Amino acid sequence: MSRVLFKDLTRVFDKKVMAVDHVCFEVADKEFFVLVGPSGCGKSTTLRLVAGLEEPTSGEIYIGDRLVNDVEPKDRDIAMVFQNYALYPHMTVYDNMAFALKLRKFPKKEIRNRVQKAARILGIEELLKRKPAALSGGQRQRVAVGRAIVRNPKVFLFDEPLSNLDAKLRVGMRAELARLHQRLETTVFYVTHDQVEAMTLGQRIGVMKDGKLLQIADPMTLYNKPVNRFVAGFIGSPPMNFLEGRIETRPLRFTHPAFSLQLPRSFEDPLTTVANGPATLGIRPEDVRLDQAPESGQPLRAAVEVAELMGNENILYLKIGENTIIARVPTRFAPRPGENIDVRFDARKLHFFGAGTEETLV
Ligand SMILES: Nc1ncnc2c1ncn2[C@@H]1O[C@H](COP(=O)(O)OP(=O)(O)OP(=O)(O)O)[C@@H](O)[C@H]1O
Ligand SMILES: [Mg+2]
Repeated sequence: MSRVLFKDLTRVFDKKVMAVDHVCFEVADKEFFVLVGPSGCGKSTTLRLVAGLEEPTSGEIYIGDRLVNDVEPKDRDIAMVFQNYALYPHMTVYDNMAFALKLRKFPKKEIRNRVQKAARILGIEELLKRKPAALSGGQRQRVAVGRAIVRNPKVFLFDEPLSNLDAKLRVGMRAELARLHQRLETTVFYVTHDQVEAMTLGQRIGVMKDGKLLQIADPMTLYNKPVNRFVAGFIGSPPMNFLEGRIETRPLRFTHPAFSLQLPRSFEDPLTTVANGPATLGIRPEDVRLDQAPESGQPLRAAVEVAELMGNENILYLKIGENTIIARVPTRFAPRPGENIDVRFDARKLHFFGAGTEETLV
């Protein structure tokens, strides 16, 4: 069994930087787990703690059933792929992949078998005799992953392994990593600041901010039921729109300087704590509707600022009062900049957040 378990793990730098702040979670056996969050939130530190490249200030880390706090990195049975996966430039691809096994004094035949098997899985058999300088970025990336695969580790640790690749290659490699995980059936702990990467690769995702884990969930739960405004805004692109206003009662409504939106009865309970007080409305771009369907709610007046015609959909920047919101609509809606249009917020897709706490209410 090759789970990774974090028990109240903390890492403080220079007595004041809480890089990892009392984190508790488990990466399950054979799971593809992604830790995502903005730059500096503590992702790499968390990964380096698993690898043994950092020491915890307090708390425990288990790999499988073994407490590894005091286990040397080389004895932890993990393999890490870094963002800057420096390959040895003077060695061939074969030797780059074989290097760690040679260090560990594996028999020659075993090394050859493992390198060839990994090369076959990654589709780089033809490249084994080349030097890294003669490879494309994507091929180098594959070699870096190959170096990890030959080790046959209990857990793979990936630290933003795709961020050096151009956008198109990144999409291709993303799918390859997902396939690789299916084939190898090993535990993967992957960190990235890119929420698209997290959503497409992670079976479960942990969202981190300022060293704290805010939410752990599968991609759809994270998208549809974020625990607070930060997670709601971080996951999804273009991001969720936020409008500041007040919740008024009798009848229940959200009032904004530019509009007043009646709310269904079902919102009464969850919004009691903010009744007659400030709150934030959240609505995702795809839930801002231009069609006239009755379930879409009441019309609100908006002025089109910019219309981006993407071919498969249109992205509209709409001015409502002092706010600009983004709508993602079918191509048949292609209003011109300056035009005034009616938009509706799909009532079933409304989110509300507390004004101070930013916790999700609905
Ligand atoms: N060796 C160190 N000494 C002091 N502070 C450090 C050290 N390593 C990291 N930090 C600080 O700890 C925090 C977390 O850093 P970490 O590298 O884990 O972030 P990250 O989430 O990986 O960011 P990025 O997306 O930019 O890679 C940051 O505030 C960083 O400045
Ligand atoms: Mg990092």
